[in-house]
Amino acid sequence: MTQKIELIGVSKRYKRESSERWALREINLKISQGEFVGIAGRNGSGKTTLARMMNGLILPTAGRVLVNGMDTTDSGVLSRIRSLVGMVFQNPDNQIVSPIVEEDIAFGPQNLGLPLEEVKERVERALNVMGLEELRFHAPHLLSGGQKQKVAIAAVMAMQPSYLVLDEPTAMLDQQANYDLIGQLKRLHREYNMTIILISHHMEDLTFADRVIVLDNGCVRLDGPPVEVFQDTARLESYGLRCPEVIQLAAKLRSKGCELDPGIVNLEQMVKNICRLLMLKV
Ligand SMILES: Nc1ncnc2c1ncn2[C@@H]1O[C@H](COP(=O)(O)OP(=O)(O)OP(=O)(O)O)[C@@H](O)[C@H]1O
Ligand SMILES: [Mg+2]
Repeated sequence: MTQKIELIGVSKRYKRESSERWALREINLKISQGEFVGIAGRNGSGKTTLARMMNGLILPTAGRVLVNGMDTTDSGVLSRIRSLVGMVFQNPDNQIVSPIVEEDIAFGPQNLGLPLEEVKERVERALNVMGLEELRFHAPHLLSGGQKQKVAIAAVMAMQPSYLVLDEPTAMLDQQANYDLIGQLKRLHREYNMTIILISHHMEDLTFADRVIVLDNGCVRLDGPPVEVFQDTARLESYGLRCPEVIQLAAKLRSKGCELDPGIVNLEQMVKNICRLLMLKV
């Protein structure tokens, strides 16, 4: 059996909401291990509800959520599911548990009952991947929003989940920190084969995913590679989203006769293409 998160006919209605308001409506999705999936959608479209479904923090009103075949409504497997699916939330303050950065990162692995050497190794790797070595002895609650978010991600990483779900992790970050974080996610995906499920309001973040899912009014409206999903500007706008700037720029350059690769969606690819064009002209 392939390792995957599977949603089968999943609907969710919160108790406090009126009877006809559904946060999610009959969602059918498969996210296989090793994918890098971006999730977009306007405020209230159901992204956080979907994310929290994936590790059983929220249970479906109808349908089933299976993580590597295990049902999130089965309380006997919930702790196993939670160790497979790591969650990073928008507000890192809610995720800090210790007064020192490295202790905060060690907390999860220690709770798994791992040997001290293994805990140390995981902490070092997480500090290194997130570029936090210099802050290891700092107090997390005194760090900036972006630094706290990095600590929160390092703490989840140290648990070595198979799936990493991030709910708007870049919302508090400045441009450089945002760019660094996306780079680190790409690295986790490439080097550690970690499955990344990234929710973001920054369309640029999602251009680095292999697959983009657009939610609107609790339904999956678009699902495909970024180059396809971001092509239909009018449709994106009808879901309250805009086309990433690189794609707009690529269209403008093409209209001026520049021969760019057809699949350009992100800044990295654009820079490569422009360098190639300049080299050809030199
Ligand atoms: N705890 C809750 N109780 C009642 N209704 C809720 C609750 N959480 C979310 N909802 C409702 O469910 C719908 C989807 O909310 P959700 O938080 O999943 O959207 P979102 O796409 O994450 O939005 P945002 O971009 O603002 O984070 C909204 O209509 C919201 O009002
Ligand atoms: Mg949300």
